[in-house]
Amino acid sequence: VDIAKAGESMGVRRREPPNHLIPRSDAFEDRFLAGLAAQFGTPLFVYDFSLVRESFFELSALLPPESGILYSVKANPSLGVLQQLGRLGAGFEVASIGELVAVERAGQDAQDGVFVGPGKTDDELREALERGVGWLVLDSPAEYERLVRLSTDWGGSTSLAIRLNPGAGNSRGGLLRMSGHTPFGMTFEEAEGLVRSSAARWPIEGFHGYLGTGILEAQTIVENTEVLLRCASDLQARTGARFRFVDVGGGFGIPQYDRDKQIDQPELRNALARLVSEYRRKHQWAERLVFESGRFLSARAGVFLARVVDCKQREEELFVVLDGGLSSLGGRDGYAGARPMPLRVLRNDGGEVTATLCGPLCTPMDRIAARVSIPKPSPGQIVAMFLAGAYAFSASPGLFLSHGYCAEVSVDHGEARLLRSRQQAGDLLRLQNPARS
Ligand SMILES: Cc1ncc(COP(=O)(O)O)c(C=O)c1O
Repeated sequence: VDIAKAGESMGVRRREPPNHLIPRSDAFEDRFLAGLAAQFGTPLFVYDFSLVRESFFELSALLPPESGILYSVKANPSLGVLQQLGRLGAGFEVASIGELVAVERAGQDAQDGVFVGPGKTDDELREALERGVGWLVLDSPAEYERLVRLSTDWGGSTSLAIRLNPGAGNSRGGLLRMSGHTPFGMTFEEAEGLVRSSAARWPIEGFHGYLGTGILEAQTIVENTEVLLRCASDLQARTGARFRFVDVGGGFGIPQYDRDKQIDQPELRNALARLVSEYRRKHQWAERLVFESGRFLSARAGVFLARVVDCKQREEELFVVLDGGLSSLGGRDGYAGARPMPLRVLRNDGGEVTATLCGPLCTPMDRIAARVSIPKPSPGQIVAMFLAGAYAFSASPGLFLSHGYCAEVSVDHGEARLLRSRQQAGDLLRLQNPARS
């Protein structure tokens, strides 16, 4: 793939960044952000905690009152973000021991964690158990057998759930589809067999499903929830099991690019309320019914700041080279930059140019925004890229070209705090040993 041409082949001639999607916040004023860039250096992530809280309240208002929220740590595992969400009453969906330990370090109990994911190793299973994770979600019958076999000489106990993959015909996704032809979860038949055979051993008492991410259509989320609740009911009816815990995933998206629509919130709220109360009426032993969310809760709180290092005019295209790009922001938009995120050149109201924003890596894949219309930037100025609080820092190849991971700062009530220091060259080398000659 010729990445440099990808934007054009996707029909990009010249595009306005979708700046109507920038969340309203005092912390996102140009002067304030420029001050943070000067104080903490660039590239830099800034998280506005008031927007983390606002996003949590918005999602809580969307979901039925008799349900709970698990924050998907993978979206943004920063301890400060975990603390904020923990205080508001979120539980945590973790996909590794690293994420479970981060939740504990943020002051939460491992009991608030639900461990989900394929490929859990023996060591991970043991540690999850010993730390007392609330629910262990099994990805396959083989994982269950391994757990039972190994756990005879381990301490601790935990409650077990199964992850169901209801198959391709039964679900729809948004940005990414997780069900159907994927390695995640078990088929209905596998789940039924396991729930039955586990009953007299270490019984399965919980149910989990996650069908897709980044969904903006209320109807799709409703249908996915309906499929999962129906599967949970059917499994219980066929096996006699009683699931105390039911996790129906979510996939709540936020508009990130131009032409993305907001989720129809009233439609979603009403339909989910109906589904959940119906399920609860028929399954009164369900102590906990939860949804999961990463992107919806953390994306809007984050802004990524990078400094302009160089500008190069090449025929009609102005390349603006920044000190941060894909090695901090992850693979947005498949590296094509054809659908730019909302962005501003801070403290610049000069004449507009058409520019392509690139990071400092020597690969054409390090392209953040192709042919966007922005005020002409000069070296030293700061570009602020919004909606960067999810799958940016945590999904980045920060070691590529040994740039290292950048710093993270929180802002709360006008006060900035360093959450994570920038990695220095020595940090990157700390775990390495030179070969003996
Ligand atoms: C099992 C599971 N839960 C939750 C999430 C979080 O998705 P989102 O950030 O879109 O809410 C994912 C995303 O990959 C996932 O795989």
